[in-house]
Amino acid sequence: MAQPTENIFGTVFNIFCLIFEILLIVVKFLVAVSQAIYETFTAEERSVEGDIVLITGAGHGIGKELALQYSALGATIVCWDINEQLNLDTVNLIKSKGKKAFGYTVDVTNREKVLETGAKVLREVGDVTILLNNAGVMPQHEFLKHTENEIRKIFEINVLAHFWMFQAFLPKMIENNKGHIVGLSSMAGLMGLRNLVPYCGSKYAVRGIQEALSEELRASSNGNSKIKFTTVFPYMVDTGLCKTVKIRFDNFMKLVNVSEAAAAIISAQRKGLEEITIPRYLFHVMRVGRLFPNVSMKVVKDFMEAFVESDQ
Ligand SMILES: NC(=O)c1ccc[n+]([C@@H]2O[C@H](COP(=O)([O-])OP(=O)(O)OC[C@H]3O[C@@H](n4cnc5c(N)ncnc54)[C@H](O)[C@@H]3O)[C@@H](O)[C@H]2O)c1
Repeated sequence: MAQPTENIFGTVFNIFCLIFEILLIVVKFLVAVSQAIYETFTAEERSVEGDIVLITGAGHGIGKELALQYSALGATIVCWDINEQLNLDTVNLIKSKGKKAFGYTVDVTNREKVLETGAKVLREVGDVTILLNNAGVMPQHEFLKHTENEIRKIFEINVLAHFWMFQAFLPKMIENNKGHIVGLSSMAGLMGLRNLVPYCGSKYAVRGIQEALSEELRASSNGNSKIKFTTVFPYMVDTGLCKTVKIRFDNFMKLVNVSEAAAAIISAQRKGLEEITIPRYLFHVMRVGRLFPNVSMKVVKDFMEAFVESDQ
């Protein structure tokens, strides 16, 4: 039977161990904070020469610009789009500059087609090292005016397609312990906006999916996973996706140029940043804003008046 004195020593020892562990965590936490701040300012853009970059929605807008800019940096581009002609235009434009590009007509909501074409890409082009889940749609009107079909489509393209793309390309990335997944969310994935209820839901989902998958790989590899994740939160970009826009201070809050948006995404991916807003300052605005009560941020939101109007 254990003596009372042994119990006391045991308890005191356990308390010391816990205090030591807490101190160690505090030090580790502070080191991680300093490292993150240091890396934010000093991270260098790694080369993408020789990378195989797959972009969904490469036929238009941000996807097209990403394809052109990555190819200029020496990457091989795999363009996926549901629109055969627009996709082909992007591929031909890249090829006309003497760079390498491959085009596949795919509806990313069709899981079987995604898996089948994914396998084809691995055979015909090689292991995809950078995957950009970019294809997206954005119907914009009051929630009760969204049809059932519209709501399903938004989630099929903006959310479910990300899962199918992961199923097609993640196994090889895990096998090689190499890869980078970029997910296009939106500022609408950080704040709720009128006329965009299902779209906001889909873009909040992208953020959660990216974060959860990254965390799962970190845990399952005991912190040794080299697969990186970048989630992108752009403000409105001039691709035509935002059809009817209302901006009070249009000099200060003007639409982001599509080429600048693509350059910012590529830079963040090459630096290995986990999250970026476009423009960058909105990241800090959002973080600081979260410190205040929601009601105070609504006052600022109303003052700024930057939103999309109903297209109906
Ligand atoms: N433009 C913006 O203001 C803005 C802002 C924030 C986030 N985003 C996000 O950035 C991404 C790209 O937006 P964009 O403005 O370049 O859009 P876009 O409409 O210009 O281009 C989207 C491309 O995706 C393709 N596509 C649509 N459905 C598809 C499907 N089922 N399968 C395969 N391809 C499909 C289209 O054919 C098109 O070529 C989207 O996810 C969007 O939500 C855009």
